[in-house]
Amino acid sequence: MNPLANSAATRDIAYHVHGYTNLKVHQENGPMILESGSGIRVVDDGGKSYIEGMSGLWCSSLGFSEERLVEAAITEMRRLPYYHGFGGKTPSVTIDLSEKLINMAPAAMSKVLYANSGSEATDLAVKLIWYYHNAIGKPEKKKIISRIKGYHGVTVCSASLTGLPHLHNDFDLPIDRIMHTSCPHYYRFGHNDETEEEFASRCADELEQMINDEGPDTIAAFFAEPVMGAGGVIVPPKTYFEKIQPILKKHDILFVADEVICGFGRTGKMWGCQTYDLDPDMISTAKALSASYLPISALMINDKVYQALVSQSEKLGLFGHGGTYAGHPVSAAVALETLNIYEERNIVGHVQSISEGFLSSLADFSDHPLVGEVRGVGLVAGVELVKNKDDKTPYAAKFMVGGYCAARAQEHGLIVRAMGDSIGFCPPLIISPEEINEMAAIFGKALDETLSWVKETNPE
Ligand SMILES: Cc1ncc(COP(=O)(O)O)c(C=O)c1O
Repeated sequence: MNPLANSAATRDIAYHVHGYTNLKVHQENGPMILESGSGIRVVDDGGKSYIEGMSGLWCSSLGFSEERLVEAAITEMRRLPYYHGFGGKTPSVTIDLSEKLINMAPAAMSKVLYANSGSEATDLAVKLIWYYHNAIGKPEKKKIISRIKGYHGVTVCSASLTGLPHLHNDFDLPIDRIMHTSCPHYYRFGHNDETEEEFASRCADELEQMINDEGPDTIAAFFAEPVMGAGGVIVPPKTYFEKIQPILKKHDILFVADEVICGFGRTGKMWGCQTYDLDPDMISTAKALSASYLPISALMINDKVYQALVSQSEKLGLFGHGGTYAGHPVSAAVALETLNIYEERNIVGHVQSISEGFLSSLADFSDHPLVGEVRGVGLVAGVELVKNKDDKTPYAAKFMVGGYCAARAQEHGLIVRAMGDSIGFCPPLIISPEEINEMAAIFGKALDETLSWVKETNPE
């Protein structure tokens, strides 16, 4: 009998469909199976250890062995393993979490609603935006603008807001009433004769043009990540949000800050909104909210939005939204403990103290023949690989040069993520300076091997 016939890999191929995976290739190559984690590292089923340079999916902020989170989950699971929020009921720990979030919010927020993922928080925001505009007697004001390369999730509406073609193709998305404005990536989309500030002005002008073309009375909201993550780690150009926000205010357009990646220290302040001086009407969070030990997402809304929900639910008899697991006590307990740890250990201070070393360890690769741009803030960065540094010509997507580089890094014990030919870095916030150096050394090796490979294979 074939000893692999019943292996975990064979069973995975037999039974499991993976997201963000070429399913045909997966049938041949099988999975990478992870068995355990400790600190910033995870270990595969062959015992090989990797630095998790992406915190999983930008989320394992406290690494993979935080006992306090395990204890928080066990304690709550013994106390009240489940309860819901329908009909005014609630687990007590969910009240504690809501109070904590509202008190730490970067802008004047009034209430929290819960869901289980970032995608659901985005969908919920859209529902509330539509409900709000009906409540205030503006039923025509329903269109929503997000940005090309923005990432807001994978459910029908959140994938529609996500500005990446592979989330739309053949899923019959985006749905109507969703539009995408310019991507604020200066290196890729700035004109040769344009300064960063001029590029930001052009992005703002293009947004306002879209609003005017559609009719301001039809535009309900604008969604933005403070730093765009899955679009390739795109840091906003200087003065971008300074120019965008007055346009939204002028046309009475709600601003939703998607803090799903940026929230809780990632950009060097507690919130991306603080790093970029944003004043949103709603804030969505997930991922580092619970250090991703359990699924939970939270959408914070300001009082203007909340008051409309109150009046509309009074009129309709109830607020017709809710979920079985929204505000789940065990997830809420883990999230609350996570937020306590951030405060007690001054995680934001730690990020500030190591950010420069992290960013400069990657900036040191700027002279590498393959590296077009190194960009980042706090503890999130992207390194964009190009064919020609002078005119920024990329490699054709089919060669997957970024994918090759990420695979080499993985071979050497570092997990990073290729988004096209941009390599993303988003290590756990607890990473040490020594671990940053180790990560950079492995990445350097992977880059050199990628260079040898492109020289050999000469992709066009
Ligand atoms: C900025 C942002 N928003 C929303 C989401 C969707 O979150 P989830 O994967 O939990 O649905 C993500 C996921 O990566 C994200 O990066």
